[in-house]
Amino acid sequence: MNLMLFGAPGAGKGTQAKFLIEKYNIPQISTGDILRAAIADKTEMGMEAKNFMDAGKLVPDSTIIGIIKDRLAEPDCKNGFILDGFPRTLAQAEALNELMKNMNINLDKVISLNVPDELIVGRITGRRVCGKCGASFHVEFNPAKKDDICDYCEGELIIRKDDNAETVKSRLEAYHTQTSPLIDFYKKMNLFIELDGTKDVSEVTKDMIEALS
Ligand code: AP5
Ligand code: MG
Ligand code: ZN
Repeated sequence: MNLMLFGAPGAGKGTQAKFLIEKYNIPQISTGDILRAAIADKTEMGMEAKNFMDAGKLVPDSTIIGIIKDRLAEPDCKNGFILDGFPRTLAQAEALNELMKNMNINLDKVISLNVPDELIVGRITGRRVCGKCGASFHVEFNPAKKDDICDYCEGELIIRKDDNAETVKSRLEAYHTQTSPLIDFYKKMNLFIELDGTKDVSEVTKDMIEALS
């Protein structure tokens, strides 16, 4: 199953991806996580991306498309994958179509988690992420079982550098101007499924699994 999770920053893509990994045994491909790993490793790509990410701006398409091309070629993607946070521009979506055509595979569904802007700031400022596996928690809405420790891998929970009220504004703006045109793009391809992302985490998971079966 080749899936895409779509939605604004903080809509719950990363949170729901964790359930899909377990249910379908396919990897999550989060361009945000890959870029953060590159920053931690201080690679050239990471250092270039860092300024864009800290400012809440999109990283250039050429960098992102290169990342995805390499990642989809890895053997663990053979039985499917979950795209999380990619594509985010029309150029990226077109590059993905081309790439998948060359690989002789299709996208099965695009699942959109719809959450209004008013709820996004609270979600992002209360988020804690695992420094080791990238899992997302929330101090109020989705707390880890043990304070500051990841439920999945016992890694330490940290606050992402771009998770502040100021950067959220730029990220939302990037979403509305550069990413939202993809809604029509995937509606035209008949792949777009919209879910109410304001429900509780477990209810969204239930709706998602139902939409996929
Ligand atoms: P990325 O890491 O993708 O960040 P994002 O899109 O801003 O999305 P988030 O990870 O913030 O949100 P999410 O939807 O995963 O929400 P989560 O599940 O954590 O990208 C970061 C940066 O990298 C970008 O700004 C850009 O610079 C760059 N980048 C990445 N990909 C790129 C691309 N393709 N092109 C160009 N640049 C790119 O949930 C959020 C919070 O809400 C958590 O605390 C969670 O516990 C809580 N929560 C989740 N679900 C619920 C619920 N149902 N109810 C209540 N709370 C909930
Ligand atoms: Mg995420
Ligand atoms: Zn973890």
